[in-house]
Amino acid sequence: MTELLIRGRVLTFIDEPQSLDDSASYRAVEDGAVLVRDGRIAGVGDYADIRRQASPDVAVADHRPHLVLPGLIDTHLHFPQTQAIASYGAQLMEWLNTYIFVEEQKFSEPEHAAFIAGRFMDELLANGTTTAAAYCSVHPQSVDAYFSAAEQRGMLMIGGKVMMDRNAPEALRDTPQTGYDETKKLIGKWHGRGRAHYAISPRFAITSTPEQMEMASTLVAEHPDCHVQTHLSENRDEIAFATSLYPDALDYTDIYARYDLLTDRTLLGHCIHLSDREISALAETGAVGVFCPTSNLFLGSGLFDRDRFDKLGARWSVATDVGAGTSFSMLETMDEAYKVLHLQGQRLSPLNSFYRMTLGNARALGLQDHIGSLHVGADADIVVLDSSGKSAMELRMRTARSLVDELFILQTMGDDRCVAEVYVAGKAMKARKATAGRALELA
Ligand code: GUN
Ligand code: ZN
Repeated sequence: MTELLIRGRVLTFIDEPQSLDDSASYRAVEDGAVLVRDGRIAGVGDYADIRRQASPDVAVADHRPHLVLPGLIDTHLHFPQTQAIASYGAQLMEWLNTYIFVEEQKFSEPEHAAFIAGRFMDELLANGTTTAAAYCSVHPQSVDAYFSAAEQRGMLMIGGKVMMDRNAPEALRDTPQTGYDETKKLIGKWHGRGRAHYAISPRFAITSTPEQMEMASTLVAEHPDCHVQTHLSENRDEIAFATSLYPDALDYTDIYARYDLLTDRTLLGHCIHLSDREISALAETGAVGVFCPTSNLFLGSGLFDRDRFDKLGARWSVATDVGAGTSFSMLETMDEAYKVLHLQGQRLSPLNSFYRMTLGNARALGLQDHIGSLHVGADADIVVLDSSGKSAMELRMRTARSLVDELFILQTMGDDRCVAEVYVAGKAMKARKATAGRALELA
């Protein structure tokens, strides 16, 4: 049995905060601790109480005065776009054709896929993200690279090969049959192996023929415990193109509905320009709209209307959408989310931001029993945040008067410099990386 006691200012959510003084929605323990036993959480609470539950010789990682939170969760990004962040001057369709469909061709090469997969996972961890749902490229070997890199680090990751059989370069196209066969094989190989979760991933209606959508539908019916991920209603030209390809559908959302792709395990990137009818269709099926603020601003796509999602009872989550998204940091993402909502007269409270990055996103993925909150039995995926990680933050923190002030400073000014430590299944990953770095220097 291995045990570790992580000491610090523990913060974890119990439910979605309804207001700035909804103290019942979270648990904050000033001198708190999390007891980790064999990769799982065995106790959470006051340090003095939890210390008594641990073995007398337990190792203690003392992170005071930093905050100890559940690891952050990113519900939508693209691992083959890691080196294509900051590609200049284009909106969605031109950006895909000019930059992304060129970049993704490199992932036919297993060495390249393995190299980027390792860097991708390390970048997530450096930013305090312990779980993410990512698209791989069309190549099955990119999925092998992705889940191998996650497995080496012990991370709970969701992913899948994109299925695309039209409107993409020949080198990035599969067919309805090969897309089905390869996905099926990858599900057999990876889904449920360790902490890997497979996501069936038709990229979007534009790059799949009706025949491929039919095959995706069959895969979803055959594997109801897999996630489904695709894109919906990001950009006006995209919407016009997608609906022209499926003239019988009522609207863009109805294309996916017709192939039974809207389920409570479906993640729909963007969802910016939806009608009330479409949002209500998501609400009825439990499908999740994924808000990607840095991406939506970067590509000039539009503003996610969170209030309409809430009003119509539809679920939503938050994500970076790297490489249209401009940062791996969920803190920077929530900073932009705040601004996108503010532009529309909507408010995102700091409590809600931190709920969204943790328990909210875990619920969106249906993984709340395992990740997203610090509770006994949960996986010990934990981030330690330093609210004075930058000099300007240290100065600003001197005037902070409450936990809410501190969280807002963290989300508005914070980035990877605020991640003091990150634990994956109870293992300290910053320490691991430093050791790996030293081994490289010595070699
Ligand atoms: N729509 C279809 N593919 C993509 C992608 O890779 N990124 C974004 N932002 N939108 C998409
Ligand atoms: Zn995307």
